[in-house]
Amino acid sequence: MMFPETRLRRLRYNSVLRDMVTETKLSVDDLVMPLFVCAGTNVRNPISSMPGNFQLSVENLVEECKDVVASGVKAVLLFGIPAEKDEDGTVACQHNGIVQQAIRAIKAELPNLYIIADVCNCEYTTHGHCGTIIDGDVDNDTTLETLAAQSVSLAESGADMIAPSDMMDGRVGRIREALDENKFEKIPIMAYSAKYASGFYGPFREAAESAPKFGNRATYQMNPANSDEAMREVELDIAEGADIVMVKPALSFLDIIYRVKTEFKMPTAAYNVSGEFSMLKAAAEKDWIDGPRVMMEILTSIKRAGADIIITYSAVDAAKILNGIK
Ligand code: PBG
Ligand code: ZN
Repeated sequence: MMFPETRLRRLRYNSVLRDMVTETKLSVDDLVMPLFVCAGTNVRNPISSMPGNFQLSVENLVEECKDVVASGVKAVLLFGIPAEKDEDGTVACQHNGIVQQAIRAIKAELPNLYIIADVCNCEYTTHGHCGTIIDGDVDNDTTLETLAAQSVSLAESGADMIAPSDMMDGRVGRIREALDENKFEKIPIMAYSAKYASGFYGPFREAAESAPKFGNRATYQMNPANSDEAMREVELDIAEGADIVMVKPALSFLDIIYRVKTEFKMPTAAYNVSGEFSMLKAAAEKDWIDGPRVMMEILTSIKRAGADIIITYSAVDAAKILNGIK
């Protein structure tokens, strides 16, 4: 009778030991909480497909940010829902734009909360596309100019980081140039580099009121079937000056996160998007899964795949668990 000499279970019998040999440890330092700010006062509209998330007017957003800080989460990612939209999204480039107001209000009360400003046009255009439409499709080079103007305006309002999510070619380089020309050379760019045309964004488009009124985003966002192409996107963004590269969504794209981290060794972010959050919440609501347990498993998996930064609607809930807050 041959007994196994190597017994991997030896390291699993004791919980102290299990903790000692844990390879991946999620930290609150890794987490970014996305928030939605809208026009008006006293607005706190629940987003039905994203339980616990709201469209918040500026003063309520500041209150929400206090809860974020109390949980231990140190960074937020802001999306705006403006009162008025236009053809090319110039409402997003104004000093009194909704996100600009929000950044100033948060910084006045919570100067240490790190503010990442999403840069895109889809929340600000009447047609819901991520740029200016010419001849029936988003025109790349025209859109670069609104993205650059939006970025500079957000930096002027106090954004700590700029995160372009539009997927136009050349936008990282154009935004870097515009920021530098305006003396914002210290502001980093986190590029949504490998952003896929995904069905998982559905709930977000309800939240941000940004669904395209015609067609889809397949002419600018990536085909979910492609992996090598994601490496080309990341390589270009790095060459144009991206400080952090992002993969989005996260859960169906863990292989992409792994490849990006292994091949480029760059600070890498992953966006655990709205639809991924909604699936978790819906299954937990039906008691089909243990919600908090599956949430932590998901976030740990994203980190294990290679993400340094995880943008997630679960950030505050996860931070409370990590910090032992009720
Ligand atoms: C807009 C944008 C989207 C998300 C972040 N920025 C949606 C889209 O491209 O339609 C998705 C976030 C999520 O689903 O949580 N460019
Ligand atoms: Zn967009």
